[in-house]
Amino acid sequence: MNVNNFRFRLGGKEFVPIIIGGMGVNISTSELALSAERLGGIGHISDAEVMAVCDQMFGTTYVSEKRLKYAANVNNRDKSIVQFDLELLADAQKRFVSHTVNRKTGNGAIFMNCMEKLTMNNSSATLKVRMEAAMDAGIDGITLAAGLNLRSLDLICEHERFRDVKIGIIISSVRALSIFLKRAIRLQRLPDYIVVEGPLAGGHLGFSPTDWQSYNLNSIVIDTLAFLKKENLDIPVIPAGGIFTGTDALEYLQMGAAAVQVATRFTIAREAGLPDVVKQHYLNAIEEDVEVNTASPTGYAMRMLKQSPTLQYGIKPNCEGLGYLLDNEGKCSYIEAYYQALESRTPEADTRFVVKCHTCLCTGMSRYECWTCGHTVSRLKETTNRLPDGSWQLPSAEDIFLDYLKSENHSIRKPEIVKQP
Ligand SMILES: Cc1cc2nc3c(=O)[nH]c(=O)nc-3n(C[C@H](O)[C@H](O)[C@H](O)COP(=O)(O)O)c2cc1C
Repeated sequence: MNVNNFRFRLGGKEFVPIIIGGMGVNISTSELALSAERLGGIGHISDAEVMAVCDQMFGTTYVSEKRLKYAANVNNRDKSIVQFDLELLADAQKRFVSHTVNRKTGNGAIFMNCMEKLTMNNSSATLKVRMEAAMDAGIDGITLAAGLNLRSLDLICEHERFRDVKIGIIISSVRALSIFLKRAIRLQRLPDYIVVEGPLAGGHLGFSPTDWQSYNLNSIVIDTLAFLKKENLDIPVIPAGGIFTGTDALEYLQMGAAAVQVATRFTIAREAGLPDVVKQHYLNAIEEDVEVNTASPTGYAMRMLKQSPTLQYGIKPNCEGLGYLLDNEGKCSYIEAYYQALESRTPEADTRFVVKCHTCLCTGMSRYECWTCGHTVSRLKETTNRLPDGSWQLPSAEDIFLDYLKSENHSIRKPEIVKQP
């Protein structure tokens, strides 16, 4: 018995029950998502910092033009005038989504991870544009993450694809789920799937740095399944966070989960967006290297490697070019922390000073210098081969996907060794 004995039924279609979770900023690349799609599963792209991602991928100049437009503001702590041009945002989103969905060749699907906590100094308008442009460009599904804006569904209810696009939510407790469902029931638009993300996941967490250890994914999944049964709701449940082997996945499917969402194993795939040198850091990580901290200005806890370069230096806020985390008043907690650190530093301090416990996440993520990861990152070395030069072989996304699909008794099949030239 393995994962391949199961299928995930969603909206009249059947999928292999493996979903690669969204990993911003462009860690879950189009190529990674398309590998899952080709193999019959579901792959996410993430629209975090989509304009910066387009600049990297297509040579567009969204970021430099925005920075130029607001150049006079760079030394101002007040960022309230820094706005995203909604037409350009839609343009970037459509470019990125169509570049991905137009290359589908399999029976799977491409979903978009949409972090609602990217408030972009105009949260409702920018979220609406992001979701509508993704639907216009043909995205198969949208997974609402980090922030669960209860108005999200209202924002897109006039769109012609509102009832056809698949909409999922990520929750970490039954409480968050029941609040969201009340709103959804009023709109007669329930989510098509529910990702239950436990405390071992990568990225932002729905738990605090001090209490995550007192929760476990298994119990939250059991509670969620029981809650839905009690409410007579038939919505697929998808556990995520710490599912490291195909057998871990199988156990959830046997419990009644419809599919599983996984990410950390794929961070080292050749198709993933992290630079190869960073993938080697993930592979070399030991458990003690991982921390759950509050460095993210979102206010959510985040798991990352302690060695992340972004934790080692203070960087001048880059909101004129980026600015994805500015709230509706143009504020971001990093800006305050940065200026406080700048003003209190001693004259002899290095120009590269540290902003303690805070990071400019927009810059850190866009430069691949914030090394977020799941709790199981220290086990990645079990999944591949060490090469004669001491580095690790990077598996393909297909290697990892098929291992999840076919593994039994917690075995992990390493990729075929390729001879180094
Ligand atoms: C490098 C990395 C980046 C992530 N970025 C995001 C993100 O931008 N948005 C999001 O909702 N989840 C994000 N996640 C969470 C994953 O989508 C996924 O739900 C979770 O990590 C699954 O657990 P696993 O990594 O233990 O397999 C990220 C995870 C990793 C490892």
